[in-house]
Amino acid sequence: MADNLTQLQENIRACDKCRLCETRTHVVFGEGNPRATLLFVGEGPGEWEDKQGRPFVGKAGQLLDNMMAAIGLKREEVYIANVVKCRPPGNRDPEPDEVAACIGYLREQVRRIHPKIIVCLGRIAMREILHETAGIMRMHGKVFYRTGFYIIPTYHPSALLRNPDLKREAWSDLKTVRRILDEVNNEENTWDLPAVDGKPPKAWL
Ligand code: URA
Ligand code: SF4
Repeated sequence: MADNLTQLQENIRACDKCRLCETRTHVVFGEGNPRATLLFVGEGPGEWEDKQGRPFVGKAGQLLDNMMAAIGLKREEVYIANVVKCRPPGNRDPEPDEVAACIGYLREQVRRIHPKIIVCLGRIAMREILHETAGIMRMHGKVFYRTGFYIIPTYHPSALLRNPDLKREAWSDLKTVRRILDEVNNEENTWDLPAVDGKPPKAWL
């Protein structure tokens, strides 16, 4: 599977499926453990990510590293990706046609990594992965179970940098992530989780 991921990365290195290819420096594919249990999905590369070709390496990335560390996770053990792989100019939101062109790559990543938990960082990732249009203020910290994945939306680290008051709520979300991770890691506890074959509740927190 790991090789599959590298193959995919190779395939999109020169992607020109949307206009973002004209202004990018690097395609930012994503990085981490190709067999990660936990996948973080952001929105799209910013300036530093575009320069370096790596996800979450700017200020928001430092905060994400700290957020992971707070729940005992290292960058190397998770996988980090984005909804769009090329930087939208000036860090604007990606346009719907850009997301439409790129989202297939994220789907392929999910299929190949096959994480058990997906953490959506911010509104855009939540909208594309969970198809929830309600605001992140309302949805953050809830645990969804969809087609084999636990999906947990939380605030984007950039939002936390702009509004540090939200960090308390984000911390509570992270503790939820840690708890679900411990449960999926501990087979003996799986009775605690919603049935995989039954009809799991839409949100169970
Ligand atoms: N913000 C994102 O959404 N993704 C990155 O990779 C960096 C900043
Ligand atoms: Fe290709 Fe995605 Fe980059 Fe658009 S954003 S050029 S679809 S890799």
